[in-house]
Amino acid sequence: MRAQDVVKILAALAVAVSASPISTTRHVVHESRSAPPSDWSKQGRLHATSAIPVRIGLVQRNLHRVDEFIDQVSHPFSNHYGKHWSAAQVAETFSPSPETVFAVKSWLHGFGIEPSRIKTPKSRNWMEFNATVGEAESLLKAEYHMYNHHAGHKHVACEEYSIPAHLVDHVDIITPTVHFDKKIGAPRRAQTHERLPEPLYELNRRDVQTSSGILGFASDASNPKQGDEVKNALMTLDNCDTMITPPCLQALYNAPSGKTAGKNNTLGIVEFTPQAFLQSDMDMWFKEFAPDVKQKTPNTNLIDGAIVQNTSESFSVNGESSLDLQCAMALIAPQQVTLYQVGDTVESGSFNNFLDAIDGSYCTFEGGGSTDSNVDGQYPDPQPGGFRGPLNCGGSTSTKVISISYSSNEADLTSKYVQRQCMEYMKLGLQGVSILYSSGDSGVAGNGGTCIDPQTGAYNNGSTGKFNPSFPGTCPYITSVGATQVLNGSSVRAPESACEKVIFSGGGFSNVFPMASYQKNTMSSFFAQNKIPYGAERFNNSQTVRGYPDVSANGANYVVAVDGKFSLTFGTSASSPTFASLVNMINEERLAVGKGPVGFLNPTLYANPQVLNDITTGGNRGCGTPGFNSTKGWDPVTGLGTPNYPKMLKLFMSLP
Ligand SMILES: *[C@@H]1O[C@H](CO)[C@@H](O)[C@H](O)[C@H]1NC(C)=O
Ligand SMILES: *[C@@H]1O[C@H](CO)[C@@H](O)[C@H](O)[C@H]1NC(C)=O
Ligand SMILES: *[C@@H]1O[C@H](CO)[C@@H](O)[C@H](O)[C@H]1NC(C)=O
Ligand SMILES: *[C@@H]1O[C@H](CO)[C@@H](O)[C@H](O)[C@H]1NC(C)=O
Ligand SMILES: *[C@@H]1O[C@H](CO)[C@@H](O)[C@H](O)[C@H]1NC(C)=O
Ligand SMILES: *[C@@H]1O[C@H](CO)[C@@H](O)[C@H](O)[C@H]1NC(C)=O
Ligand SMILES: *[C@@H]1O[C@H](CO)[C@@H](O)[C@H](O)[C@H]1NC(C)=O
Repeated sequence: MRAQDVVKILAALAVAVSASPISTTRHVVHESRSAPPSDWSKQGRLHATSAIPVRIGLVQRNLHRVDEFIDQVSHPFSNHYGKHWSAAQVAETFSPSPETVFAVKSWLHGFGIEPSRIKTPKSRNWMEFNATVGEAESLLKAEYHMYNHHAGHKHVACEEYSIPAHLVDHVDIITPTVHFDKKIGAPRRAQTHERLPEPLYELNRRDVQTSSGILGFASDASNPKQGDEVKNALMTLDNCDTMITPPCLQALYNAPSGKTAGKNNTLGIVEFTPQAFLQSDMDMWFKEFAPDVKQKTPNTNLIDGAIVQNTSESFSVNGESSLDLQCAMALIAPQQVTLYQVGDTVESGSFNNFLDAIDGSYCTFEGGGSTDSNVDGQYPDPQPGGFRGPLNCGGSTSTKVISISYSSNEADLTSKYVQRQCMEYMKLGLQGVSILYSSGDSGVAGNGGTCIDPQTGAYNNGSTGKFNPSFPGTCPYITSVGATQVLNGSSVRAPESACEKVIFSGGGFSNVFPMASYQKNTMSSFFAQNKIPYGAERFNNSQTVRGYPDVSANGANYVVAVDGKFSLTFGTSASSPTFASLVNMINEERLAVGKGPVGFLNPTLYANPQVLNDITTGGNRGCGTPGFNSTKGWDPVTGLGTPNYPKMLKLFMSLP
């Protein structure tokens, strides 16, 4: 429909609408939340004349066919395997229908919000207009309050909102309403060489009231955990139970050294400011463990005014980047790593800021504003020292493999918000991108060891309650990576166990996402072969939801150079870049024979579990329970298992 036609129809409709009283329209609650996330407290009601930017995310077309599309390009039995989609094909397939655009505009017009006040990006995915709080409250039958974060941020939100019943299939999400996302704030005052006492899960329990749970923050509980300082680093295969170095990982997964460096095959690793590496640590680490590697600095792609900051130094701001980059760069060399550093040091960024940068069709507005003005990094950033440039909207190219060692809890966000973000990962999968996320370090509990109070839905101290799954781990269109360990006293040739040292592999079942088709057979075997002693009071045991993680890799005792010394480091934060490195090497081999990248991995891996080393011991305790067991076949602790590189390579090379 042409724009002029819309205006004509709207004008006709305005007459019709004003003739029928609005109060007769039946409204239904569209989204609600029982309590604000921990660390946020509700303050006073907003004044009716304050202005807020309202954004309406429209329902995209064809989402009911997502599993079919993903299987077409990613399932090993498909005739279209590897025939990835173009960005234009993705945009065309999923953009909202003209009927949706029309229905929502008509509703707004009926409320006196003229089409001239509404902005729409080219993707047609969103509509944006400025409204007074009074207008928004009557439009959405909501009450707006200010919320304060203990670290000082403010956020505008309501507890629930309603829309007319006939729009339920057209409106996905409206902001600002009930959503809170993780956003990085300014770095905390430097805590030089701070030491974390063990065992960590006890620390986290004590810390639950103050853990900010904000991505990239020094106190973000998804950061890796520091162990002892290593005085005499040993690079032999005899000590892999106490020190993991690149030769240990190559021995565990039977992986060779890299030989070639394809031009378009860098491995993407994402970091959120203020997390940053120090070049002096890179130099120190490579000198000791990989002296032959020439490039000791990743290629940097700076998003939203990011800098690789070096003014704040401590394990809690340097540990994550050092860990993610050092082993991965050594494993894939001479292939290179592209570091996506996201966010300035004032405002920083979220998963959505990264997604905006690599996919312009995801941004709320081309060149301006991301999903939620209150929760995602907003650019230009007017605060002192903030980045004055525009939001990066489609300005960065995506690598074909991306590893992200950060996670939040699924319950931090509303189901519509996580579903929308998850669909973005699906679209990247259709375009041939493999996305790997660490599954979390607190077993069946959430970040910081928190669990969910079954009555109120609020987080508790983790001694009881419902399991608290991680996000994006529960999104069915990413590959979630859990952690394993070489048992104390065990050889690098012996089977690994689920990691139970300092951290516990994040795993469990989603409370939001249904099981994708690639997981169905595996999951019915899992439930048939294991008698799970927990019921619906602990997790969604309907056997119809997404289970995670998908795979695992070593996550204990990595020797990492941080702030001028070698430290043992623990976390699924280590597992994700290690697994991603091997995927990147497989892509290198495929590209060399003229094939494309592997893209979304899960359908192929679930159909071929024999290419992974099944892990059958250990568990992932949390919420006052021993958690799940690592057992024969897939399990919600270590997934299908760790990579067997030669077998994985052979399988992926056999596919078109
Ligand atoms: C809303 O108001 C702000 C501030 O005046 C302005 O920059 C922005 O463009 C407006 N947005 C819309 C959709 O009109
Ligand atoms: C790398 O990718 C870009 C963009 O897709 C393409 O234009 C270029 O030809 C590729 N280079 C090589 C060496 O394949
Ligand atoms: C710290 O970062 C700044 C800005 O990126 C850079 O110019 C400087 O060389 C860095 N200093 C050190 C010691 O790495
Ligand atoms: C955690 O909460 C439970 C139930 O409220 C309480 O009994 C327990 O003492 C708390 N534990 C800690 C370590 O605070
Ligand atoms: C590993 O095992 C040895 C010998 O059994 C024991 O002395 C040592 O304390 C153990 N180390 C750890 C970290 O558990
Ligand atoms: C479990 O998930 C299923 C499928 O999404 C859903 O229908 C059901 O309501 C969920 N059960 C609980 C107790 O949340
Ligand atoms: C784990 O294994 C133990 C010992 O076999 C068993 O008692 C327990 O029920 C299992 N737990 C789960 C979650 O499967």
